[in-house]
Amino acid sequence: MMDIAIRLYRPEDLDTLKRLTVESFTGVTLEHNVEQQFGLIKGRDWRWRKARHMDEDAAANPAGIFVAEAGGKILGYITTRVDHETGKGRIPNMAVAAAARGQGLGRRLIERALDYFREQGLEYAMIETMAQNAIGNHLYPSCGFVEVARQVHFARKL
Ligand SMILES: CC(C)(COP(=O)(O)OP(=O)(O)OC[C@H]1O[C@@H](n2cnc3c(N)ncnc32)[C@H](O)[C@@H]1OP(=O)(O)O)[C@@H](O)C(=O)NCCC(=O)NCCS
Repeated sequence: MMDIAIRLYRPEDLDTLKRLTVESFTGVTLEHNVEQQFGLIKGRDWRWRKARHMDEDAAANPAGIFVAEAGGKILGYITTRVDHETGKGRIPNMAVAAAARGQGLGRRLIERALDYFREQGLEYAMIETMAQNAIGNHLYPSCGFVEVARQVHFARKL
């Protein structure tokens, strides 16, 4: 495999990260589940809603987004939040391009985020995944995370 470098996020990456997000999250995001129940909402699909998470992540903590790149092509990313008061680091979103999966890149991105949290002096890290996300449920425990809770999401039409 080509050498993949993990580098800091730059604002000009945002559109590519959004594209990678909507390509990656089929079947593994709350927004898609809601759409499967209720159809389009306000004429927008789950991809439009999910892409907005990237805007939020980039606005909230651009210095804590890490991007995996090889030969000028972005293959993955991970986003983070830091809360110095509680000592908590959180990973809200990550994705690896389908063609680059299963080769340890997701794990490398998580390790980079955990190193960043340590550099920030944080005490613990959290990540969540849906029960239907087989890869997340395998990968996160194998990166040292232990299950602390299960949450059930409800939605209804108004
Ligand atoms: C989650 C994701 C970022 C992981 O990226 P990746 O580069 O494939 O990650 P890695 O190669 O480091 O690890 C994947 C692990 O899952 C395992 N795996 C792959 N398919 C699997 C499956 N169907 N069931 C269980 N485990 C699976 C791989 O064997 C590997 O484990 P190993 O290192 O013990 O062999 C990537 O799959 C992705 O973008 N998914 C869609 C978006 C998503 O789910 N994001 C996270 C939301 S919580």
